[in-house]
Amino acid sequence: MPQATISLHNKEFAPYLSEDQLAAAVRAVAEQINRDYAGQKPLLLAVLNGSFMFASDLMKELTIDCEISFIRVASYQGTSSTGEVKEILGLQEAVEGRHLVVLEDIVDTGHTMKALLEQLQAKQPASVEVATLLIKPECLQHQLNIKYQGLAIPNDFVVGYGLDYDGLGRNYRDLYRAV
Ligand code: IMP
Repeated sequence: MPQATISLHNKEFAPYLSEDQLAAAVRAVAEQINRDYAGQKPLLLAVLNGSFMFASDLMKELTIDCEISFIRVASYQGTSSTGEVKEILGLQEAVEGRHLVVLEDIVDTGHTMKALLEQLQAKQPASVEVATLLIKPECLQHQLNIKYQGLAIPNDFVVGYGLDYDGLGRNYRDLYRAV
């Protein structure tokens, strides 16, 4: 575990979870997916930007036939009282009849995942599950079935291993939390 705090945009972050702890969580998720999807050739949908390291490391642990595609969730203001609307960008593959596994770096309030799951369900896949590296159970505001959870963490803001604070911090191998 690195001892030093890091500074991003003049905010301090202290070491929180080590590269090894993250790797163990990724392996545990991969083992479950290997077991549950044997013979099913799932399509992994990695949500950019934050999930790129998780997606990469997870895929290296998968021993089943699987495909991956990278998507984004874009927010824009709805025209009526619906408020913020989220749209999926970058989904080129036909997902109808496919077994989908959404890969996310972190589920916080769950707003993003709720919107994403609704839109994916409308495309009539055979199944949709979620694999998230991190989840903040205290913050969750929706009833979501997140089948594969790497690590549950408290309501802290974290950076590293793909997660950013205003664009910075994605490059660290370990996870840091705001102090
Ligand atoms: P939600 O819609 O509130 O669940 O938020 C999901 C998104 O917010 C994640 O995909 C991240 O991009 C971002 N996010 C939430 N918590 C953190 C954090 O602690 N660090 C960095 N990004 C976060």
